[in-house]
Amino acid sequence: MEQYIIKGGTPLSGEVTISGAKNAALGILAAAIMSDEDVVVENLPDVRDINVMLEAIMEIGAEVDRRDRHTVRINGRSIKEVSVDDEFIRRIRASYYFIGALLGKYRHARVPLPGGCNIGSRPIDQHIKGFKALGAEVRIESGAVMADADILRAAHIYFDVVSVGATINVMMASVMAEGQTIIENAAKEPHIVDVANFLNSMGANIRGAGTDTIRIRGVQKLHGTEYAIIPDQIEAGTFMCMAAATRGNVLIKNVIPKHLEAITAKLIEMGNEVVEYDEAVRVIGAASQRHTDIKTLPYPGFPTDMQPQISVTLSLAEGTSMVTESIFENRFKYVDELARMGGNIKVEGNVAVIDGIRNFSGATVSAPDLRAGAALVIAGLAAEGFTAVEEIGYIQRGYENFEEKISAIGGKIELVDSEREAAKFRLRVG
Ligand code: EPZ
Repeated sequence: MEQYIIKGGTPLSGEVTISGAKNAALGILAAAIMSDEDVVVENLPDVRDINVMLEAIMEIGAEVDRRDRHTVRINGRSIKEVSVDDEFIRRIRASYYFIGALLGKYRHARVPLPGGCNIGSRPIDQHIKGFKALGAEVRIESGAVMADADILRAAHIYFDVVSVGATINVMMASVMAEGQTIIENAAKEPHIVDVANFLNSMGANIRGAGTDTIRIRGVQKLHGTEYAIIPDQIEAGTFMCMAAATRGNVLIKNVIPKHLEAITAKLIEMGNEVVEYDEAVRVIGAASQRHTDIKTLPYPGFPTDMQPQISVTLSLAEGTSMVTESIFENRFKYVDELARMGGNIKVEGNVAVIDGIRNFSGATVSAPDLRAGAALVIAGLAAEGFTAVEEIGYIQRGYENFEEKISAIGGKIELVDSEREAAKFRLRVG
């Protein structure tokens, strides 16, 4: 079974280039099928979730022409199905974006309900609330969402919770509805803005993305476009924590520093140095770092997808830190794995109390989900001795060339799929 084997203790140094944003790309690929003309998407991250999404798009009959790892041409003209195969839903949650895209374009959609996942129940009640407000009849039948509308008309929708997925899904469903739809209490993440900019480049009329009120004036149809996805804020933040936790000095290129402000602020509070450039940030990890408190919030607050990574970094700081996870109800599963490496974290409800330790000691651990898996790799890179991280399929869903990028900045990490290969790595790096 594939795993990462890591020899810790080397301060990372050098330059790493960030890939396109996975969570923007998933919404953008779904929206791409809403045109009957060629849509070219560039700067795609070459990760498992994206590749599964492209398979699903092919499956419903759209043309998909992968020009290279990071570029794809899609044309929705030949779509013959408004129902998405269950197999794809099980593999990625974001396939629920097909409901908004197919409903918005064809007024009909049949998409299996996404399962929960390891970080919480992940309901889609707000998505459904938005579709119904636009005039669709939505019912759940044998595990699938059936959405149908004679016409879609503008609505004034107020989300009960701030939801990235519901904001993107309802934005797509309303771009060709009659009149002006208003979404209140919308999510403001960078990837919401990216999806809105993408749809506008196809001829949509969306204003206010990035604020909590988005106005969408329906248009007749969407034309083709060429569009490059923004850099991945969470991949960038992951490498920022990696530099801090290993007391390294890393230049992280192809980023939008503004998207990283919450992470930068916390790393500086802890005593690290963060230098901002136009499209890069440099993180210099301090030898001795201070504790601080974190509360995950919708953007521009501290991102929930960075909670495991900052918790590992705080585990190596002096003193006691409090991390409050206010978005998902089950996002501390990595704490038990960190305990095997000497981590000292107690979880009470949605708060983790972290007592700083001098260093982790290497152990065999298992990734419980995507971001927790990345956090365990950070712990292994800082730890004394060897760490094996299992279940790395989670990590490969969202990080492109993860081990290659880490090796290129001095990290001693290898992807192995046998004990023999792991033993050879141990011998080689000693
Ligand atoms: C997106 O998930 C991201 N996934 C998640 O990233 C990210 O953690 C999350 O946004 C928050 O930023 C993708 O973009 C593919 P939400 P999403 O709807 O859209 C509740 C990663 O690591 N809620 O913003 O599913 C929900 O339970 C992944 O890349 C409802 O109650 O998240 C949660 O508590 C993990 N009803 C909160 O809102 C709904 O209808 C935020 O969820 C929808 C959501």
